[in-house]
Amino acid sequence: MTKIEQLEILKQEVLSCQKCKLHQTRTKVVFGEGNPDGGVLLIGEGPGADEDKTGRPFVGRSGQLLDKILDAAGFNRKDHVFIANIVKCRPPNNREPEKEEREACLPYLHKQIEIINPKIIVLLGATALKLIDPSMKLREAKGQWMIWKNKIVLTTYHPSALLRNPNLKKEAWEHFKKLFYKYREIINPEIKSEHIK
Ligand code: URA
Ligand code: SF4
Repeated sequence: MTKIEQLEILKQEVLSCQKCKLHQTRTKVVFGEGNPDGGVLLIGEGPGADEDKTGRPFVGRSGQLLDKILDAAGFNRKDHVFIANIVKCRPPNNREPEKEEREACLPYLHKQIEIINPKIIVLLGATALKLIDPSMKLREAKGQWMIWKNKIVLTTYHPSALLRNPNLKKEAWEHFKKLFYKYREIINPEIKSEHIK
């Protein structure tokens, strides 16, 4: 079976999930999307209002900023990255997902990681960082390459943090430059970015 077929089977299971209380308030489950063969998996926190409405990850204001940064660094969803979240259903009022909710949903993300088998994982923000180390602070992890389960992992700010505090954009851009260089080194030497030489 191809990765796309395996993901489709998993997706059908997740679409009817009721393993935590977030199922009661969701409109649509947000499974994730992108190219599972692109080599890069981006992990966010959980759906917001626009994602809950459309069933697609990162389509609201944060998502538009994320796409803009990805594009500037030479990446897009069709070719290079798959985007998923820690929880697949929207937490009411965009609160952080609770420990119980994260734990209920995590097996799906682990299965996505197993199927996609990305070479590089990018953790977007503090909630995503909990995937690899619940006690590590974003401040310590950001911009650092780490190894987790034989994959290399980079942590950066969540795009919503960049919207709240535009001063962080410059540092975030350095993280995406690191991603570009690593991608060019280990995945595809042909990648081009208009803004990175
Ligand atoms: N924020 C997230 O963490 N994930 C999304 O899919 C959208 C906004
Ligand atoms: Fe299931 Fe995850 Fe949605 Fe909770 S957030 S209902 S565990 S899919």
